[in-house]
Amino acid sequence: MKILSIVGARPNFVKIAPLHRAFSAYPDIESKIVHTGQHHDFIMSGIFFKQLQIPRPDHFLGINGGTHTQQTAQIMLAFEEVVLRENPDLIIVVGDVNSTLACALVAVKMHIPVAHVEAGLRSGDRTMPEEINRIMTDSISDLLFVTEQSAVQNLLRENVPSCKIHLAGNVMIDSLVYCQQYADNLNIDSKLGVPVNGYMVITMHRPANVDSIAGLTKLLEVLKSLTVIRPVIFPVHPRTLKNIHSFQLFNDFSVVQNLKLIPALGYLEFISLVKNAALVITDSGGVQEETTYLQIPCITLRSNTERPVTILEGTNHLLPDFTVDSVMQLTREILSNKTKNSNIPPCWDGNAAVRIASILREKYINS
Ligand code: UD1
Repeated sequence: MKILSIVGARPNFVKIAPLHRAFSAYPDIESKIVHTGQHHDFIMSGIFFKQLQIPRPDHFLGINGGTHTQQTAQIMLAFEEVVLRENPDLIIVVGDVNSTLACALVAVKMHIPVAHVEAGLRSGDRTMPEEINRIMTDSISDLLFVTEQSAVQNLLRENVPSCKIHLAGNVMIDSLVYCQQYADNLNIDSKLGVPVNGYMVITMHRPANVDSIAGLTKLLEVLKSLTVIRPVIFPVHPRTLKNIHSFQLFNDFSVVQNLKLIPALGYLEFISLVKNAALVITDSGGVQEETTYLQIPCITLRSNTERPVTILEGTNHLLPDFTVDSVMQLTREILSNKTKNSNIPPCWDGNAAVRIASILREKYINS
C-alpha cells in the first residue's frame, strides 16, 4: 500500500512525523512525503524536519506566498503531477492549512481515497481561512481521524456517516511525548536569561490579530502591561514580523522593557520554553493543545476556539474581544493560582499515530 502524506505549513510537520514513523514500521506500507513548500524557510520548515527526524520529502512542490487562491490553485496543479506519477493508494492530509484542502481536492477528483487527520474541529467562524479548509476537507475525505469528542459531534451534525469517523487521539501530542526527552536538556529559559517558571510566552500570527495596525497596536499595549509583572518572551512568526515592519512598529516593540522579541523558534526550543513558563498567551490552535498536555495555563486571544476540550478539560482560557484590562485581570488570576484544575483529554497519550496506522491497515490491507 502506497501512502502519500502531505505537509505544507509548520504545524503539519509536527503532525506528520509520528504518522510517517508509524507507517514505516510496517513492511507492507510504502510511506512517501510531499512538501508543498507553503512554509519554506529553515526556521519555519527545515529545522522541524531535522528535530522531528522526518526524512527529506520525496516531492517538494516549491509553492509559497501569493493570495489564498493563488497558493491553493498552484499547489493543486503541482500536486496533480505528483499523483499521476506516484499512483498512490491513499493520501493523508492533516490539519487545516491551504495545503490540506488543495491536496485533498486533487486526490478526490482523481478517485484516490483521502484520510483527514485532525478532522471535525469547528470554530464556527467562517471568516477564518482555516475554518473553510476544515469544512471542505472533511466533506470530501473518506476517513476522518479526530482528536476530541466535540469533533465527532460536529461531523455527525454535518451528516458524515459514523463509520468514517475514528476518535484516534492527537498526533500533535504524539510528537510532544516523543520529543520531550530532547527538549528537556535545552534550558532555553536560562539561555534567554529568564527565571524558570517566572516568565510568560506569547505567540500571535492570526490575520485577525496581526494583519491590521489596530490589531498590532493593541498587542503592543498588552505587552507593555504584561511586562510590568513578568518578563515576556515573544517568538515572532514571519507573518507578524512582516506586518510589524510594514506598519513601522518595530521600534515600538523593540523598546518595551522586559520583552524579548526573538525569531520563531525550532520545535524543541519552543517546547522547552513552554514547559517552564508561568503562562502562555496565544492565538495558535496547536499551542492550546500543547499547553493543555503540559498542564501550563494558557490564554487564547480569539473570539472562538475549534478545540473546546482545551477549555472544558484543559488549561486553556478563551478571551474574546480582549482588552488590555481583560488580559491583565485574567493573567493576575492565573498567576495567583485562582484558576481551574485540568485534565489531559482521552487518547492524548502519544499513541494516536499507531492507532491510525492500524485502522488504515485493517481497512485497506487486511480487508
Ligand atoms: C499558515 C496557516 C495557519 C497556520 C500557520 C502556522 C493557512 C491558511 N494558514 O499561516 O493555519 O496556523 O501557517 O504557521 O494555511 N513566511 C515566511 N517563511 C515561511 C513561511 C511563511 O517568511 O517559511 C511568511 C511569508 O511572508 C508569507 C507569510 O509568512 O506571506 C504568511 O504565510 P502563509 O503560508 O500565507 O500563512 P501563515 O500566516 O503562516
